[in-house]
Amino acid sequence: MQVNLREHWRIGAVEIPTRLVLAPMAGVSVQAFRRQGRRYGAGLVCSEMVSCSGIHYGNERTLGYLRIAEDERPLAVQIFGSEPAYMAEAASTVVAAGADIVDVNFGCPVRKVTKTGAGATLLDQPDRACRIVASVAEAVSVPVTVKMRRGLENGARTCLELGPRLVDAGAQSLTLHPRSARQMYTGEADHRLTGELVELVDVPVIARTGAAAVMVGRAAQGNPWTLSEIVDGTAVLPSRADVAAELILFARETVKELGEQRASSFLKKFYGWYLRRGRFPRPFVQELVRLDSTEQVVERLLVAEPAAAAALARLEAEAPDSEGTLVPLPISAYGGG
Ligand SMILES: Cc1cc2nc3c(=O)[nH]c(=O)nc-3n(C[C@H](O)[C@H](O)[C@H](O)COP(=O)(O)O)c2cc1C
Repeated sequence: MQVNLREHWRIGAVEIPTRLVLAPMAGVSVQAFRRQGRRYGAGLVCSEMVSCSGIHYGNERTLGYLRIAEDERPLAVQIFGSEPAYMAEAASTVVAAGADIVDVNFGCPVRKVTKTGAGATLLDQPDRACRIVASVAEAVSVPVTVKMRRGLENGARTCLELGPRLVDAGAQSLTLHPRSARQMYTGEADHRLTGELVELVDVPVIARTGAAAVMVGRAAQGNPWTLSEIVDGTAVLPSRADVAAELILFARETVKELGEQRASSFLKKFYGWYLRRGRFPRPFVQELVRLDSTEQVVERLLVAEPAAAAALARLEAEAPDSEGTLVPLPISAYGGG
């Protein structure tokens, strides 16, 4: 059955304008990425995973992830951790910061996270996983959702046993990445599992196919046009000026968010993501990566593609300044520049 992705839907009481969800990606899902995703048709965007112990100990960089603008909403903030009480505390903090949904990470396969008992490890600790979801759901009045892998090992079907239990514990939506934790990001994603999970639970399931909504991650890196293509089903070929203008806006917003020093290294991977794909020659991308400051990159882009200036002016006129729309935080947490 073909689903109209431009349709509204709901997670609990949260109204979501399209059935396209921008995936949480650590090291990628900064505010500029999420705001851009919303402009290009994602109905729901998600922060990268935020450490509940980082929140508990008031780590400045962690609290910096809780910078939320009105025009990103609806927005899910994803938290990770292994202690139900800390997770509940983190959930209250992210809701106070403006999250419309609290998403719990039971999918991260990275050792730095799993060795602390968080992320995908919890797939094999169903009782603890359910206690986490129940504590978080009790702590906040917004919907609580879970993003998970199929299981730890290749071929595992853990998600089918755990999914319904998480719903009983209070999860109001499940996102399934149907690879095992062992697979990391390689090999086949088994989308048949999604269909099976959909049959087992009566909450919306988010996945790549066969579900209530579609989640897109890597394809949107440096390529927001893919979001409008997916949501509207028509091909979009941005001009070089459009590409350069989006990159400049993205870079400037990221500097506001992270400060110039962090932003200039964070942004380097985005130059290739935006400018390759046959859009600009490889040596040009390499040249940008070697420049010291973000404003030098902007200047170089405007020289290479003068029409980007007008395209940028249009974008800036349409997109309100992020600083003006920040949700006030109850704590002093706008770290990182
Ligand atoms: C760089 C990177 C960082 C990611 N970080 C997170 C994360 O913080 N939380 C999470 O639940 N998933 C994370 N993921 C997984 C994505 O949300 C998504 O499930 C995965 O990339 C598969 O979707 P895709 O094929 O559309 O990229 C990350 C993926 C990538 C590539």
